[in-house]
Amino acid sequence: FGSVLLAVSDCFILSVLCVLSLSPTGQIDAKITQTPSLVLERGHTAYLRCEQTYGHDSMFWYRQDPGQGLQLLFNFYYKKEREKGTNSSHFQADQPQDDLFRLNISSVQPEHSAVYFCASSLDTAL
Ligand SMILES: *[C@@H]1O[C@H](CO)[C@@H](O)[C@H](O)[C@H]1NC(C)=O
Ligand SMILES: *[C@@H]1O[C@H](CO)[C@@H](O)[C@H](O)[C@H]1NC(C)=O
Repeated sequence: FGSVLLAVSDCFILSVLCVLSLSPTGQIDAKITQTPSLVLERGHTAYLRCEQTYGHDSMFWYRQDPGQGLQLLFNFYYKKEREKGTNSSHFQADQPQDDLFRLNISSVQPEHSAVYFCASSLDTAL
């Protein structure tokens, strides 16, 4: 992983990990499926998908840069955008179905290398 990231300057890694599904009780459940790691070249588009089977009405995309906390990119509630944490035109999200949340990163650049997290919850009582 790291060696590819360092050795190939025009090619980089977008890591996508399936980690959190937050519920109001704070319990962490991992039944959320997400695109695995991606390696992309500059200028391509990254299509990240996240599916959840809970019937949760709120979904989130976060990014995490090395040594940083989670940064919210999008929060959708009932399939509509409720909060956006980025002004970058590269990032677009949509939720075509209750259980599917997508993040497209168009014309990816090396600074988009990060770990992207998807989460869902019953509501944003976070
Ligand atoms: C987005 O742009 C607005 C207006 O310029 C600014 O107030 C806000 O802080 C920006 N948000 C982010 C996440 O950069
Ligand atoms: C993301 O890409 C998919 C697949 O090409 C497309 O169907 C969807 O409309 C795109 N979503 C956004 C928000 O651009």
